[in-house]
Amino acid sequence: MSSDTLERIRLCGAVPQHVAVIMDGNGRWAVQRGLPRHAGHRQGMNAVREAVEGARQAGVEVLTLFAFSTENWQRPSSEIGALMGLLRLYAEKEKRELKRQGVEVHVLGELHRLDEGTRKSVDAIVEGTRGGEAMRLNLMISYSGREELLRAVRALARDAAAGRLDPESIDDEVLEGRLFTAGLPDPDLLIRTSGELRISNFLLWQLAYTEIHVTPVLWPEFTREHLFDAVLDYQGRERRFGRVTAGEG
Ligand code: FPP
Repeated sequence: MSSDTLERIRLCGAVPQHVAVIMDGNGRWAVQRGLPRHAGHRQGMNAVREAVEGARQAGVEVLTLFAFSTENWQRPSSEIGALMGLLRLYAEKEKRELKRQGVEVHVLGELHRLDEGTRKSVDAIVEGTRGGEAMRLNLMISYSGREELLRAVRALARDAAAGRLDPESIDDEVLEGRLFTAGLPDPDLLIRTSGELRISNFLLWQLAYTEIHVTPVLWPEFTREHLFDAVLDYQGRERRFGRVTAGEG
């Protein structure tokens, strides 16, 4: 499928290599329509499909979606059950298509907290899409940025206490090697839907210099065109990483 925006993206230079997304607004979308919250999550699953296909079409190499936070475990058990059910459905329904598209799926987070059935579906989509070379899709499930950092710090402290690691050698690269995103570039672009201006405990280390695009669109209504708009917005930014503009100073 072609689109004018996609054509403009091609003409506008570098595409973000890694795009991260906070998918927000499922509940509000459902409430606005007098529907139960889980109906918003179900519709949100279609938006996930749109985002994945759009990112692949635009030439994004890594797409990281915040699908379930550690804090989300505090939601009513019926909503947690619905979200886990959707995750299983997505893993089972999309596996073959993602494989066909060359999308390699990784599921990252505190996965020991998932029930056995969900864990199995998750393992199956990871296994079934391994080796895909068109794009890497990270589904962050039972994930929290602070918890990720604590895990990394604990692992480093264990190695230092055991004499395997010199504390003075700990630098960005050593710490990054202990994060779920080890080996990946930091996100270039973060998209957040539903107009909220928060990071919400997502990729706290990795987002240090990420460009942020907030759209008022609620996640269930997010389409690949919204993703293309975000990429175009990114292409118009000047990234300085804390330095001055080229030619200045
Ligand atoms: C935030 O909306 C969204 C979530 C907590 C879950 C995201 C899940 C999906 C998009 C569907 C399934 C995902 C996959 C990968 C199959 P919210 O409920 O916080 O919305 P609100 O802020 O309007 O209440």
